[in-house]
Amino acid sequence: MTSAIVTNAPGRVNLLGEHTDYTGGLVLPMAIPFATKATVTPAAEGYVFASSAFPGEHTSTRDEKATGEWSDYPAGVLHELWALGISVPPFKMTLDGNVPLGAGLSSSASIEVATAVALLRHAGTMLAAPELALLCQRAENRFVGSPCGIMDQFVVTAATAGHALLLNTRTLTYELLPMNTGDLAHCSIVIANSMVRHSVATGDYGVRRRELEEGQAILRARFPQAEDLGRATIDQLEAVKSELADNVYKRCKHVITENARVREAEHAMKSGDAAKLGELMNGSHYSQRDDFEDSVPEIDFLAATALTLPGCYGARLTGGGFGGCTVSLVASDKVPAFTEALAAAYKAKFNIDAEIYITTPANGALAQLEHAQ
Ligand code: GLA
Repeated sequence: MTSAIVTNAPGRVNLLGEHTDYTGGLVLPMAIPFATKATVTPAAEGYVFASSAFPGEHTSTRDEKATGEWSDYPAGVLHELWALGISVPPFKMTLDGNVPLGAGLSSSASIEVATAVALLRHAGTMLAAPELALLCQRAENRFVGSPCGIMDQFVVTAATAGHALLLNTRTLTYELLPMNTGDLAHCSIVIANSMVRHSVATGDYGVRRRELEEGQAILRARFPQAEDLGRATIDQLEAVKSELADNVYKRCKHVITENARVREAEHAMKSGDAAKLGELMNGSHYSQRDDFEDSVPEIDFLAATALTLPGCYGARLTGGGFGGCTVSLVASDKVPAFTEALAAAYKAKFNIDAEIYITTPANGALAQLEHAQ
């Protein structure tokens, strides 16, 4: 009997750099130890996907279209492998995992990357990290029809345990920043799930993306050297303000200031300055709440409450927005009291049981593969 191929891909939480990854900006995510497991067994014919979370099976064909179901994510990956001319022998794949769905922790990228690595191994080949991440992003953009950037697929593929990953989304160059420098060695990353579901494929994510692209085009027309918002300055934005609708101006302001915060965070992380990193996270939250306008009352409450609790350096909305999770930087010895008080306050205010995850930076799919071999 031919043995099964088993591949794991993590989820991710973004520490800083939100909505900067589709206009050439900077992001600072880390992989988290939730996982999607893809198990592939060879078959006589057909390309079959099953999931432990959903009933039924899906058989892919060359001319199929997206159905709006979970299977669009792995099927989209298969179509992108075919588009590269990779010959994938018939298979049955089962997906299984524990990345919270619709929580802004990259369940989609986790499924895509686990699927891609498993099917590449099944086809007897592999891709380097940037090509693998780009393939998974194309699966989501072109087959699923979700307008996401590159951050999630990249970090889920390329992360290294113990580190955050500082990615330039224009050049796809990155640096791994240790999470145990200076004060950071005594801090924990705490994620609070508001249980308000978010979606990148539907909803206002696409609206925000179009607003940014509109502003970027106007900036580029006046300042050709600022080819994207990742390279634009706040002075350049002010110079074209009268040409921009108010909402477009505010969205661009968020992105330009957010890129500046990530640049500062790089120094804060390298010097282990938890107070500074926390301050930048708070600035990011206010910018998302007031300028990017992708927060919701539940998330604002979780972020504001976190800051009132002992040991919390900073808290912000993380991920695609309009629901999902907050991420907080908390002194490790204060974490038990912090999580208890945060969950109790949230329950009292919204009558919702928040899920709270105390997390550490995990390996991406490629590093997990290396360690398994
Ligand atoms: C979602 C998208 C990412 C990124 C974030 C916001 O997670 O998939 O590409 O745009 O939202 O930073």
